[in-house]
Amino acid sequence: MDREQWNSRYAGSELLWSAHPNRFLAAEVAELAPGRALDLACGEGRNAVWLGERGWEVTGVDFSDVALAKAAKLADERGVRIKWIQADLLQFVPEPGSFDLIVVLYLHLVGADRRKVLAGVAAAVAGGGVLLVVGHDSSNLLDGYGGPKDPAILFTPDEVAGELSGLRIERAERVRRPVDSPQGETYAIDALVRAERSDLERRRRSGADRFDEVWEGVYHVVPGPSGAHARIDAQLLALLHGPATDAGLYLMSESNLGESEHDFRVPDGGLHRSGADSMWYATAAMVIEIVSPGDESWNKLPFYAKHDVDEVLIVEPAERTVAWLVLRKGEYRPVERSALIALACGALAEQIDWP
Ligand SMILES: C[S@@+](CC[C@H](N)C(=O)[O-])C[C@H]1O[C@@H](n2cnc3c(N)ncnc32)[C@H](O)[C@@H]1O
Repeated sequence: MDREQWNSRYAGSELLWSAHPNRFLAAEVAELAPGRALDLACGEGRNAVWLGERGWEVTGVDFSDVALAKAAKLADERGVRIKWIQADLLQFVPEPGSFDLIVVLYLHLVGADRRKVLAGVAAAVAGGGVLLVVGHDSSNLLDGYGGPKDPAILFTPDEVAGELSGLRIERAERVRRPVDSPQGETYAIDALVRAERSDLERRRRSGADRFDEVWEGVYHVVPGPSGAHARIDAQLLALLHGPATDAGLYLMSESNLGESEHDFRVPDGGLHRSGADSMWYATAAMVIEIVSPGDESWNKLPFYAKHDVDEVLIVEPAERTVAWLVLRKGEYRPVERSALIALACGALAEQIDWP
């Protein structure tokens, strides 16, 4: 549909869509801290206004001046300020890296046009920012209710996911949306894609990525250690140095365990069989994890097992205990003493001056 066709659809005084936000937008955005948001094909502004009410600094773009006039009225009624831009999305190119959230909801264009728009959109997502694309899924034609009937403008989550270069895909799913029909409540099938731009580049430049990890493509922010954690860390390095050297192993403080930025963990320390320098270590003889409140140390065990780390030393400052785990048949089992170095749990726990 071109601009004039959309204008005539919007011409009535009633809202064509509702004044409520799209349910998937509300769910996906609930946890995000407000920042700069761009709502492309914003229509009558239900989603832009909802974001504005939640503290987002919103820009809404649509080519229908009739829809934008209604959107401005809705924003006034609800007391939010939104920047409305009337533009054809095939011409509008948002500034690269300039939005923390971009939403494209129910914009249906033929494949080549959609790819063109999404390329510009993907580039406009800032480091750490999120892109949400939702629309009628191709399968809605036969299996769902309502929506456009031209298959050329419908899409699947995988098609959209494949068109978002430089972003990490967090969700690419078919989702059901309950709708009312003359026959009663039924559902429409939507395609939903949520993608994020990794924050690693920006954080690396700022020197703040030291404690961050990526777990199978999912970014985990690990806060810097508390003073107690740091004190234990320093002591462990001193206490393990002698036994490690006697066993011919190389002691290291934090280093990257994994093959690449796509999937790695940063243990608090490790013993290695080789002293060779590397950015990435595929394995280690032993890794050390000092548990902080709410951290994910114990959840890292499957990753360490997959990477054939023979032993994991877990230090629990809150309990003043040390657990030594040894890899047997792909799983870690607690043992009293290390098989690699001449140290036992009890003896090590006794030597630590617990903060
Ligand atoms: C189904 S409505 C969705 C509106 C809104 N996103 C929502 O969920 O309420 C699709 C919108 O896309 C807009 N649109 C379609 N093609 C466009 C284009 N090439 N440039 C700008 N807007 C366009 C239409 O004017 C319409 O407002």
